[in-house]
Amino acid sequence: MLREFAELKLWPEPDVPPPYDVLLQEVRDVDGVVCLLTDRIDAGLIGASRKLRVISNVAVGYDNIDVAAATARSIMVCNTPGVLTETTADLAWALIMAAGRRISEADRYLRAGRWKSWSPQLLLGQDIRGATLGIIGFGRIGQAVGRRAKGFGMKLVYTDTERQVEVERETGAEFVALPELLRRSDFVSIHTPLTAETRHLIGARELTMMKPTAVLINSARGPIVDEAALAEALREKRIFAAGLDVYESEPLPQDSPLLGLENVVLLPHIGSGSVATRTRMARMAVENMIAGLKGERPPYLVNEEVLSTC
Ligand code: DGY
Repeated sequence: MLREFAELKLWPEPDVPPPYDVLLQEVRDVDGVVCLLTDRIDAGLIGASRKLRVISNVAVGYDNIDVAAATARSIMVCNTPGVLTETTADLAWALIMAAGRRISEADRYLRAGRWKSWSPQLLLGQDIRGATLGIIGFGRIGQAVGRRAKGFGMKLVYTDTERQVEVERETGAEFVALPELLRRSDFVSIHTPLTAETRHLIGARELTMMKPTAVLINSARGPIVDEAALAEALREKRIFAAGLDVYESEPLPQDSPLLGLENVVLLPHIGSGSVATRTRMARMAVENMIAGLKGERPPYLVNEEVLSTC
């Protein structure tokens, strides 16, 4: 699709992102950049570009892009909201179930040849049916996670910057402040974007507010949780378990204390990773780029304010 509109320069490595200095060099003379969340598109890079008009991220989150710097240069920033909502909600649920019922740990146990007999005390987990699910960030993905909770007869509490009265009616969700959510929830699932306000939103203090039987799920962005504090809480069994798809530093460093813990399920940022959803995300990012290059309004524009200047 893009070849019809532009001369393309493609980074050839599927599993290794382009180093920053390569991006810095390449961005100088291009009109558009289709990028991934692994590409840091910061003020320095934006400043180095001579004719950049569109930055199209293949992700709904865009904390890898300095949007203010792009807006100041009248550069459009686009993302891929909506199409990944249900797939990411499914993954959050996979983590809820895996961490609550110790699925990865049980799999490791069996493969290691440690299973000798059925035993009444073997690998006991936490019940999901009837439990209370607390959702931090009740936007598209948080709501989709909440809707699934109905099938498990769960009680739903949420916190956000705004109340979602319509969805409260539909799901029975109750709006509460973060400390109350942490105190009441059996499962806490994070679905807020990463901003200056949400960085380390869950730290040592918040973890002590959680029940010792509670499970923390993060499939949003790693830096929302203070990872060192979480590892400590898990090691000391101050909470029951965690399920993580995202980390403060990605890929997760091989010396991370999380890797030595049994009570955490660790996934390599695959929240939106279904064949259909990744295909839709790629198409959307390309459609955003083509519209921007044609001087039209991209379907998913993050910084609407550029339209008055470009
Ligand atoms: C996003 O879109 O922000 C996810 O983290 C990757 O799909």
